[in-house]
Amino acid sequence: MATVKSFDPKLIDTRAVHKLLSSAIAPRPIAFASTVDTKGNVNLSPFSFFNVFSSNPPILIFSPARRVRDNTTKHTLQNAIETKEVVINIVNYSIVEQMSESSREYDKGVNEFIESGLTEVKSLKVKPPRVLESPISFECVVENIVSLGEHGGAGQLVIAKVVHIHVNSEVLDANDEIDPVKLDLVARLGGDWYTRVTNESMFKIPKP
Ligand SMILES: Cc1cc2nc3c(=O)[nH]c(=O)nc-3n(C[C@H](O)[C@H](O)[C@H](O)COP(=O)(O)O)c2cc1C
Repeated sequence: MATVKSFDPKLIDTRAVHKLLSSAIAPRPIAFASTVDTKGNVNLSPFSFFNVFSSNPPILIFSPARRVRDNTTKHTLQNAIETKEVVINIVNYSIVEQMSESSREYDKGVNEFIESGLTEVKSLKVKPPRVLESPISFECVVENIVSLGEHGGAGQLVIAKVVHIHVNSEVLDANDEIDPVKLDLVARLGGDWYTRVTNESMFKIPKP
């Protein structure tokens, strides 16, 4: 019989806890978050501690954590606190490399749209631009930010209300609904692993 390894998260270091959580809670969707600071400098960074939590009101939450290394905060969090707006762009296979490039630790004020070669499009209701190459973008206002702790690794929940939705018609089917094959989503697993949603990786279960 296989043995079971057990862990008390208080007794192992934060990196090991992170590895266990992010390998097991997977695949995770990726919020490609565009924000601006008070001077209007644009930032674009990916976050896979992300999901949808409500449809009415439409609420998305993602978590730019305090860095384990030195307990500093991410520019995206600083901008969300300062200007209370974010555009969450969905990541498909065709922009996964650019998304990864944009996750480098650039200095504050560096525009990752330019660094990663993606195109800014002016948003309708918020200041941060959306990503032209992204199949779906959600313009959001930040409703609340909940800090889960003050130490390195502590999640900082950005609770964002969707105020406008853009869907590229190329990912729609004949009924104008989102076609998961055309969408070609990617998601994050543990470590450096990603997964791609393809015809072969999907299956259906009719509602019982
Ligand atoms: C696919 C992917 C998912 C990521 N998810 C998160 C996350 O959920 N939380 C986090 O704090 N950092 C996450 N990161 C790391 C940030 O993107 C990275 O720290 C980035 O430099 C933050 O940029 P900023 O300081 O401009 O906001 C992720 C990176 C990648 C490539």
